[in-house]
Parts: sequence; structure tokens; C-alpha cells
Amino acid sequence: MDRRQLLQGSVGVGALLAVPMAEAGAAPVAAAKGEGDGFPMPRPLNSVAPRLAEGDPSRTLLELGWRFHEGDIPTPEPQGHHETYLSVKAGNALGAAATGYDDSDWREVRLPHDWAAAQPFVETANVSQGYRPRGIGWYRRTLRLDPADKGKTLELHFDGIASNATIWINGSTVAHNWSSYNSVYVDLTPFARFGEETNVIAIRVDADAKEGWWYEGAGLYRHAWLVRRPPVAIVSDGVHCDPRLVDGRWQVPVTVTLANVARSAAAVTVEAILFDPDGREVARGEVQVTVPVLDSVDAVLRLDAGSPRLWSVEEPTLYTVRTRVLRDGAAIDERRVAIGFRTIRFDANQGLFVNDRHVKLKGVCLHQDHAGVGVAVPDALHRWRLERLKEMGCNAIRMSHNAPTAELLDWCDRTGFLVMDENRLFNPAPDYMAQLEWLVRRDRNHPSVILWSVFNEEPMQGTGAGVEMVRRMIAAVKRLDDSRPVTGAMNGSFYNEVSVAGEFDVMGFNYYQADYDKYHKLHPNQPITSSEDTSAYETRGAFASDPARHVITSYDTEATSWGATHRDTWKNIAERPFVAGGFVWTGFDYHGEPTPYAWPTIASFFGILDLCGFPKTAFDIHRAHWIDDQDVVGIAPHWTWPGREGEAIKVFVSCNAETIALRLNGRELGVQKVDRIMGNEWSVPYAPGRIEAIAMRGGKVVARAVKETAGKAVALRLTPARSLMAGDDEECQAITIDAVDSRGRHVPTANLMTRFTVQGATILGVGNGDPNSHEAEQVQPNSGSRSLFNGLAQILIRAGSGPGKIALRAEAEGFEPASLIIARTDVKPRPQVAVVRQVQDLREWRRSPLLATRPEPSLAPADGDNNSWDFVRSGVPTPAEQPGWRVYRTRFTPWKRVAGEGGTIAFENIGGKAELWVDGKLLATKAGSAPGPLNATLPAGQGARIAALLVEGAANAPSGLLGAVAITPR
Ligand code: GAL
Repeated sequence: MDRRQLLQGSVGVGALLAVPMAEAGAAPVAAAKGEGDGFPMPRPLNSVAPRLAEGDPSRTLLELGWRFHEGDIPTPEPQGHHETYLSVKAGNALGAAATGYDDSDWREVRLPHDWAAAQPFVETANVSQGYRPRGIGWYRRTLRLDPADKGKTLELHFDGIASNATIWINGSTVAHNWSSYNSVYVDLTPFARFGEETNVIAIRVDADAKEGWWYEGAGLYRHAWLVRRPPVAIVSDGVHCDPRLVDGRWQVPVTVTLANVARSAAAVTVEAILFDPDGREVARGEVQVTVPVLDSVDAVLRLDAGSPRLWSVEEPTLYTVRTRVLRDGAAIDERRVAIGFRTIRFDANQGLFVNDRHVKLKGVCLHQDHAGVGVAVPDALHRWRLERLKEMGCNAIRMSHNAPTAELLDWCDRTGFLVMDENRLFNPAPDYMAQLEWLVRRDRNHPSVILWSVFNEEPMQGTGAGVEMVRRMIAAVKRLDDSRPVTGAMNGSFYNEVSVAGEFDVMGFNYYQADYDKYHKLHPNQPITSSEDTSAYETRGAFASDPARHVITSYDTEATSWGATHRDTWKNIAERPFVAGGFVWTGFDYHGEPTPYAWPTIASFFGILDLCGFPKTAFDIHRAHWIDDQDVVGIAPHWTWPGREGEAIKVFVSCNAETIALRLNGRELGVQKVDRIMGNEWSVPYAPGRIEAIAMRGGKVVARAVKETAGKAVALRLTPARSLMAGDDEECQAITIDAVDSRGRHVPTANLMTRFTVQGATILGVGNGDPNSHEAEQVQPNSGSRSLFNGLAQILIRAGSGPGKIALRAEAEGFEPASLIIARTDVKPRPQVAVVRQVQDLREWRRSPLLATRPEPSLAPADGDNNSWDFVRSGVPTPAEQPGWRVYRTRFTPWKRVAGEGGTIAFENIGGKAELWVDGKLLATKAGSAPGPLNATLPAGQGARIAALLVEGAANAPSGLLGAVAITPR
């Protein structure tokens, strides 16, 4: 997408430092309030955030009504032989995984959820993970399925769980998952219960397991879905659209994988239609397939697209392939896949070509992490972050070092980024190969993805075993997608006799810039890209390093020993046509990896933007490097240095025009020829007032950057990114808080504590970009506090539902408060699976043989007798039988409230006369034989109880537990 189109009016903090002057000559462009201070706030967009279209109508969000327990709940040791015998049977998990476990006092949470984001910073916790204890947690969710869904294909999708997870459905283990970054698709079909009989999902998450050396969060931090499809349907990730240019015409081979859970093979028609961006049909095809029972089959079609509009970074034109399954003429299942037509070619001497046009990769590496929310990044925040990157001319993203959230790739398709999609663990063993294959299968339709990366910096890269491992992984990728090259991000072993380097279609260099030339000379036919570079440090808004306080200057002078400054790095890449481009470590700061410091620093310094997405000086440097279609200029530092009058201050200007004139209070300080890569510097004796960098081309002023000295901070200001939000209970936006002087100018040195309240929306988190701050990032849903750091703080809010108003108010001691109203528009929330209240039901019973005379209520099978008494479930219809007596027994532990206060035990429907005994006491009787309910008061009491129901059945009538049995508090 054209940068300006995407960002229309949505210019972030700092970006307006450069006011385009092309049409306006030397006169300043009309300014928003406070713009004259050289640090204007973004002009809010007057529209709601775009939403992604749903491509799979069979899925529904399953994000409300989850119960969460922080900390582990050890599985209890089974008591005795009989319990041991039962504990290993399907459906009989013990402890918190058990269907009937009492989670009534667990906290209710909404997904996406990162419980680590709410943790305090603790010195003894892991440094790389940002000093936040992660630990183990449990989630549970009750789920009611409509009887109409019986026979359908049912799945649960968890798009990301950090880190290791075990999942149970109705007491049976259904998944073990070993990575934070892959989706878990659980086939619910064989375990499902319908109607009144609810389902219980239990998930144990071990977030102490690490896969990274960065903050990885904890819990169900991506979307979760309930999937309901017809018995014959397209499988998950089951559509592969693979556009190819064949003899000058675009073809779209489409492969649709179908499965069948019904009892007989099904003949269906698979139809695929290609729609252009305006929804007009371009091509269609159909094919008949027979889907075998409990098996799958591929339907293969080819659509002739002719000469479609192409997808590119500037114009990310998307077409849609709609695939439908038709049975007896009716459409029973459907997917919509966004595709783009584009060619990619890596040339060993000239780098990357997209649609035969040369494109230098101007990329950043990203971890999924943001102030306040941790890794639970809402869809709209992903998009907002991409807008910030687009604004600086970035055109590529490396998903380091793991599979990204699906929605992030959707946004990359729509906004025009080129993606290096990376696998997490370097391991060709089956569990890990499955993760890699899942990544390729899920992501291979995205036009944004141009490169697969199988690893990052693996010490085995220069060994025979490494070569054997990488060969297998590359082959696995190629089996699923032969249209994109494969790379790996190497950090050494390039010239070993045995090295994985030669295995890659595109060689990926992490750092080692001095080796570009040598390697290229030795391998003149292998394309090269920098897969990672820079690792320079900056503290946003700081212009002098202070090692004692873990503060690093933002003049782009400090970098790791293995990296280099932003400027030196880009110089090395820009001057070598054979290097396809680079990926700066990193676009945004992230929690963890506080290199070069450690405690009390809890976040990184590498970002071009800080943890909140506030730009550092590096942002302007990259604008100058990367933007070609617009003249830009940025100036650093701010110009508020009381007490330093007369002292020399280094003024650094980033610009992509021809010359720059620097002026202080209208006085010319010299004109310099622009050094687009290294920037331009002046040493200016400080005098308060206005410093201006005026960019010129051909003698004409083309852009201008201004900083003004601010006075004393007197008031707070709240600035939204958008003045409208969708009332869809989901849209999220970042609100900036800053302090202004009496003339409304931003005060870059203000570091005061602010307090705020929000109505009509929920606070998701707060931040200020200070890597040394230990203030809580999660606050109350409608109020909180955060100090400004070098003048700025951020509140992330999620809009409530329905049309209305969102009202924010911020205050600070001795300051004029700020208030803000955002309109909430009438946008329907996405459907969510209904929340179900948990009740304790007694499902599992033992049933005695039929007895001729009334037994004692104490009659029980011997321990270890698994055979002479049946295992029965309440509510399961029983056939009519001879008259006689039976005992139904069960052992149960009332949930906490009932145990404390007593409750009611309710039998929905009993066939026959009945006596209910609990712990040897008669609680109730049912006199009539006809089916009917029985209710009794259950006295309070801790621990396990024994219920015995004596039933006397009549001849030829159903008897026993014909309905549910539930225990409810008084
Ligand atoms: C690289 C690594 C990144 C990050 C970076 C910091 O070696 O791939 O994940 O740790 O160093 O400089």
C-alpha cells in the first residue's frame, strides 16, 4: 500500500517533525494545536480501525468465560486400587483436568490473555524473559453444544499458547503442545457432548518452558475458536492457492483438502471462484470428488486469472478465492482466501525483484510484544504497529524467531510488507517437523510471505548433523511450497568445509557484515540477504548516555560489538547491490533481553521505536534512508535544555533531500550537503527558542523540521490515534498522554506521575517506553496511573460494545487535567461462543445388578470389582426391564460453596420409586413409579460424600437415572 494512503492523517508522534513543504513553499503548513512545538501529537483519524474479513464462516471466537488459576494444581494421587484403575480410563482425568473439578473460585478472564504481563518484575526471575515470573497456570472453560451440531465436524483452535500445554476435553487428554508459536487444532468431534450435558475444556500451561531469550508471555495469548463444520468439510488450513505466471498468463492452482466424519463416503462438488478486488468474478472451476469415511482427499482445480492487477508493497492488491463444497446442489462449507499476484526472484548479483522490479529489503525484525499487553497483542494494535513501520519507509518484516500470529500476516498482505516467515525450533524430529509443516501450510497463501527461514543462529550450522537436519527441513518446506526460497539466519561457520550455508536458496547473514564481499566472491551464484543486523541501542528521548542509570543516548552512536549503528549498518547494505536488503534488530523494543544491561533494566534498547511505539532518533534516520517518494527531515535532540544556555549541543539532522540549512531563532547556522546515510551534524551553542532544519532540493525548500523550547509544564494532554472507535467490544487503540506548557507545547522533559480514568472502554495496559521502569503495566479496567517518561506515556484501551461515548480523564498533582471524548460507533461485535455457568453435575455412577428385594443403601461393589456393577452415566436412556431393585452409587466432593453452606441435589428425571441416601442418611424419597424429578437438601460438609439411590423399577418401564443430576448452592 502506498505509505501515504495507509497513513492518511494517521501520522504518529515525531513523524510530523518533517512537515512536507512541496506545495507550500517556505510557509509552514497549517498546524494542529501544539504543532509549533516541534513535537506535535498525531492528528487523530476520524474513522474506526479497519477490521479483517472472516475467511472461515465455520469458526466462532471462544474468548469469553474462561476461568484461570495462576500456579500449578498437582494431580492428586488416586486413592486405592479402584480409583487408580479408573483414573487411567478415557474421560477420567483427575484433579483440575477432571470434568467435575471445582473451579468456582478461579478468576474469569478473557482471551487473548498473557498472565505474565501482570507479573511484577523480580530480580531472581529470568533476565532474558524480562524478570517476570511465568510459572504454570490452568485454564478451564465450560462449553455447551447445540444438539443440532451432533454429527458435525467440531474443532477447537488455539492460535498460540505460551509455552507447553496439555489439553483435556471432558476428562480425556486431547493434545500435548510443545511450542508457544504454533496453533493447536483439537478434534472435538469424538469427545463432544450436546444439549444440557456440557463439555469441559481444561488446559495446563507450563510457561516455565522456554523457547526464546526474549519475553514470551504466558497463557492463551492468541485467538481461540470453536469450529463447527458439516460432516463433509474442508479441513483446517485446507485450501492452498498457488498463483503462478505460466507463459505470460496467471494461473491459480487450487488444492482443497476435504475430510468426512460421516458413516458413508460422500460425493461432493468443489467449486472455486476467483474474485477481483471489487468482487467481480474473474474465473471459476469445479471438480467432483468422493470423500472417504474418516479419511481425506484433495480436490485439485486450476483457475485461469489472465492478467490480473499485481500485488506489490506500494499497491497490495488482493484477490479472493472462494472455495465451496456443494452437496446435492447446496453449499455446505466455504472458505475465502486472500491471494496476491506477484513474482519474486532473488538474484545473486542484484538482490530481490518483485514483479521484475528491483526492491531493496528495508526490513525490521519483530517480536510480538507491546507495552501493557505483553504478547497478547490485539488485532488492531498489530495493524497500528505496522502503520508506524510503514511511516518510516519500512517494507519488510522478519518474524523473528517464530511463526507469527495469523492476523499479523493478514495485515501484511493488506498493507504491503514483504515477510521472512521463520520457524522456531531447529529440529527435524517428528514433533518439530510438524510445527514447521504447520507453519508452511498455514502461511503459504500469503502474498506477503516471500521467504521461509528454517532457523536463527544455530550452533550446529557448521556441522555434519546440522547439514543433515537442515536438508530435511528444507525438503519438508519444498514439499508443501516450492514457490518461495528457503533461507536460514546464520551467524558464522560460513566457510567451514561442512556448513549449512550452501543448502539455502538465499544465504541469510546475521551481522558479519564484513563477510558479505568475501562470501559473495566465493559463492557468486548464491543470493544473499542480511537476515538480521544493527543491534544498536537507544533510549527514547535521551541524548546522553548514563551507564550508572542504564540510559543510552539516541544519537545512534552505540551498538553491540556484533552489530553496528543504524547508519553504518545501512551503509554496508545500501552500497552492495548483491545484498538483497536487511532486517534491523529490531523495529520495536520488547520486554526482556535488556542487553547491554541487566537488572533493574527489564526491556530491550534495540528498537527503532520504543515499547509503546514512540519513535526514537533511529526512526528519522530510517526515514531518511528508506523513503524515496517524499522529502523528509528530522532533527534531534529536543530543544528544551534549561540551565545549559551557551553550552554546545550536538544537533543531528536526518534528511533525504539535497541540502539542509539549520536555523536557530531565525539565524542561519550553516548549510550542509545532505548525507542521507550518516546524517548531518552541527554543534550549536544552546539558546532557548526555535531550532529549524530546512531541507532543500534545487534551491527550493521541500521539508522542514522544528523544535521549540517548551516552558514549564502546566497541563496534561490526551491524544488518541482515532477519534472514532467501533463499538465492537474488540477494537483497541493507543492513547498518548503528555504534558504541555502554557502555550500547548509538548514538554519533552516532563516525567511526572499521571492518573487516569476511562469510561466506555477497558484499559488493556499502560506503558511509557522506559526500559528501566518497574511500574505495573496492567492496571484496573477503568482507572490507573503511569508516569511520563521523557514526556510521554501510553494507555491502550479496548472499546466497549454498542454506540456511545468513551470518556478519558487524566490528572496529575498541580496540573490542569485533560479530558477526551471518543465516539463509539455501532459496529456489531464478532460472534462469541456463549458463556455457560458451571454447575456441579453428577454424571458418573455405578449400578448394581438387578435385585429381587430391597437392598441396604450401603450395598457397594468390593474395591477392585470393576465388573459386577455397571458404569453408567446419568441421563443416558436405559431399556425397560423386569421389575426389581437396583442401587446407583457415586462418590462426590461438593464444591466449595455447597460444602460450606449446603445446597440442593436435584435429579432431573428418575424412572421408578426411589430413595436417596447420602452418607448413610435418607434425604428424600420418590413415591410414584412414573418418571419424574427428585430434589433434596444437601447439608453442608467438607470432603467426599457417598450418594446411594435405591430405585425400584416397575415392569416394562424405563427406570433409573433418566436425566441429569446437579448440585447447586442454596
Ligand atoms: C541476535 C539474535 C537476536 C537478538 C540479537 C541481539 O544474535 O538473533 O534474537 O538476541 O542478537 O543483538
